[in-house]
Amino acid sequence: MAVAGATGAVGQRMVACLQERRFPVAELVPLASERSLGKTVTFNGQEIPVQVLTKDSFAGIEIALFSAGGSISKEYAPIAAQAGAVVVDNSSAWRMDPDVPLVVPEVNPQDIAQYTKKGIIANPNCSTIQMVVVLKPLHDAARLKRVVVSTYQAVSGTGQKAVEELAAQVRALFCHQELVKKVYPHRIAFNVFPHIDVFLENGYTKEEMKMVNETQKIMGDPHIRVTATTVRVPVFYGHSEAVNVETERKLTPEEARRVLEQAPGVKVVDNPAKNEYPMPLDAAGQDLTLVGRIREDFSIENGLNLWVVADNVRKGAATNTVQIAEILIRDYLK
Ligand code: A2P
Repeated sequence: MAVAGATGAVGQRMVACLQERRFPVAELVPLASERSLGKTVTFNGQEIPVQVLTKDSFAGIEIALFSAGGSISKEYAPIAAQAGAVVVDNSSAWRMDPDVPLVVPEVNPQDIAQYTKKGIIANPNCSTIQMVVVLKPLHDAARLKRVVVSTYQAVSGTGQKAVEELAAQVRALFCHQELVKKVYPHRIAFNVFPHIDVFLENGYTKEEMKMVNETQKIMGDPHIRVTATTVRVPVFYGHSEAVNVETERKLTPEEARRVLEQAPGVKVVDNPAKNEYPMPLDAAGQDLTLVGRIREDFSIENGLNLWVVADNVRKGAATNTVQIAEILIRDYLK
């Protein structure tokens, strides 16, 4: 098993996740750039040297997990597939390719079967994953017509450098030192900006359009209307989302709560009287998607408001990738 980008924020978590979930790895091959030569990755108590990613890295590899950025995936995922590996790719490079399944195991595990077309399975965007885990059971119960989502996204979604930038800016502010901005166009410490990924011609960001397009693809329903505003907040781990849904059939908050309590991968945290609702500090470090503040949207006929929080590096990336690999070896690579 290879992990491309094994030294990055998500790659490190992928390796930890393989260990935690006792994935049957015969040999782990951690891959990164030349910058990481000499580094090691700890896996099952062993220190494994990081290798430089090249065209020849995939001989004998059965499964390759990728999280080294879109351009690396674009170039190397087909090379890995050609060498006989099944690629599970965490970048956005292949997600909307009609010959590449885009999978959240709680929502559309059956789509994994399509991996044979290109040898690649795509892992969705972090904000999309946690949203569809909650939307799917509501769609099955009452058919979704429209979704309006605003996100509050942690800096770890950008990568390790952004985690370090927020920490360094907070330190600099408290020590009256010069504040350095490298990763983001604005200071992120004690700030919020509605800008994730690049701006597109339609006025949306690419992150916002990922939420629209990926939701329709994963749910297998191009008729669900989705609109998104994606926002970066000074949180290290855990994305939050305010989600408004309009359904075909009326779903009361009580019914929605009951449906979500039964849903795989979901935990309802919804007791406002005790100040209990999902928060990034509680979502971080575990794999469930937390949902709360479930209440009627009384401005429309059939509407609900929800607050959804998950660990963006775990369920939003590494855990979802490893879950896909688990289904692959259980059902396909026997
Ligand atoms: P490296 O640590 O050697 O730069 P993050 O998402 O946290 O920024 O991590 C990105 C991951 O992708 C890192 O493991 C990084 O390795 C890896 N990576 C970035 N560029 C390349 C490249 N050109 N070849 C191989 N790996 C790369």
